[in-house]
Amino acid sequence: MAQQPCDIGLVGLAVMGENLALNIASRGFHIAVFNRTTSVTDAFTAGRGKLPNVVGCHTLEQLVAALAKPRKVMLMVKAGPAVDQLIATLLPLLSPGDVIIDGGNTYPADTDRRTREVEAAGLLYVGTGVSGGEEGALKGPSLMPGGSAAAWPLIKPIFQAIAAKVGPAGDIPCCDWVGPGGSGNYVKMVHNGIEYGDMQLICEAYALLKHGAGLSNDELARVFDGWNRGELDSYLIEITRDIFTVRDPDTGDHLVDRILDRAGAKGTGKWMSQLALDLGAPSTMVTEAVFARSLSALKDQRVRASSVLAGPDMRSHDDPAGFTDQVRRALYAAKIASYAQGFVQLAAAAAEQGWQLDYRSIAMLWRGGCIIRARFLDDIAAAYAANPKLENLMLAPSFAKVLAAAQPAWRHVVATAATIGVPVPVFMSSLAYYDGYRHARLPANLLQAQRDYFGAHTYERTDKPGSHHTEWLELRRKV
Ligand code: 6PG
Repeated sequence: MAQQPCDIGLVGLAVMGENLALNIASRGFHIAVFNRTTSVTDAFTAGRGKLPNVVGCHTLEQLVAALAKPRKVMLMVKAGPAVDQLIATLLPLLSPGDVIIDGGNTYPADTDRRTREVEAAGLLYVGTGVSGGEEGALKGPSLMPGGSAAAWPLIKPIFQAIAAKVGPAGDIPCCDWVGPGGSGNYVKMVHNGIEYGDMQLICEAYALLKHGAGLSNDELARVFDGWNRGELDSYLIEITRDIFTVRDPDTGDHLVDRILDRAGAKGTGKWMSQLALDLGAPSTMVTEAVFARSLSALKDQRVRASSVLAGPDMRSHDDPAGFTDQVRRALYAAKIASYAQGFVQLAAAAAEQGWQLDYRSIAMLWRGGCIIRARFLDDIAAAYAANPKLENLMLAPSFAKVLAAAQPAWRHVVATAATIGVPVPVFMSSLAYYDGYRHARLPANLLQAQRDYFGAHTYERTDKPGSHHTEWLELRRKV
């Protein structure tokens, strides 16, 4: 047992839990760790976790007994029933005022419910987004905590110490309180949805450059390297650049060419799409990105269809350098539309749930540590600082200007993709969203007429208030 009570306990020593525990220990905190399988705990405390401020525990009782009060117990286990089981086991062991923290990719409504249940037992509950993968957990993740507000001052010193740091002096933590209930998990879910959009857009840009501009992997690595020095500067562009340089040790080929084109998913992008549909928030890009993964998974069918269904030859573009630059501009424009959709959905969820979210702060949380970290998050933070009530990011003067300038390239890239038959669903939906959003009048007038015609669903008029119904067949007879 440790000489002094531990600052925090951590349950679940899979790779994320292990790395987070090491990160916490590396900042000087004393940490007690527990894993359901005792040998995992023992292996950790005899190996990477063999440190004077790491205490291995064989039971949850031991873990709780090792903690300073008010106790803080962080769960790093698979999201879902395991969290509920652990909460049920921990509650009788803990005391009022203690804090249970869930660091998994949890469905926001589960955190809403658990916050209520744990608060009803007199304790505090936090559902925190943790982004940055294994390396982020070890060296500094982006953390998005929400739940019982009274828990924040208790966990803040640890959370802000372990989080990634940004800013000119490298001292601004990518961690701040998000809000009540499941709002932290909601912000993480939107982060992941944006991650899906960013990744799919990059993949579509890759397909366009490979087929449309005829670029080789080496050329692609150079293009992405260049893009990473400009407005697209981001973690995902950086790793994409690196991926194009890596060779398969077995064959000597570029490894990317040996990877099966069938994408997996763990579900957070799907959640964002489902919740967008529930809210009526047009998060079209994440939804297309989720479906793009579903379509990729139909590998066998696609192989069969490739010899049945006709399409144009994906010819090389006449001006590869010019086209490459247009793809860069289109990618940036599409990225702005994607983040705009994410923030719009957050605002819609906040309105529904009664959360007061600080969108500038959320953009700041994502500037370091996380998968979507990018230079352009500074611009988003600045846009919300200038107008905290911004309805849509695309309306921020700086972004409206960028979009106006990028339009010709954006349209050309989408049109070229359609002409040469390269599937770019997220690029296409980004432009459709932009065009849909900027039109004062859409053809929904006709849609309302149709609904009223066949179902007497009524419609509103442009020239007088109220809801109206027309006997369309009667008027039709008079035509
Ligand atoms: C992060 C990631 C992470 C996510 C993976 C896998 O922020 O570190 O978002 O939480 O689980 O990226 O997501 P998919 O398997 O759904 O692609």
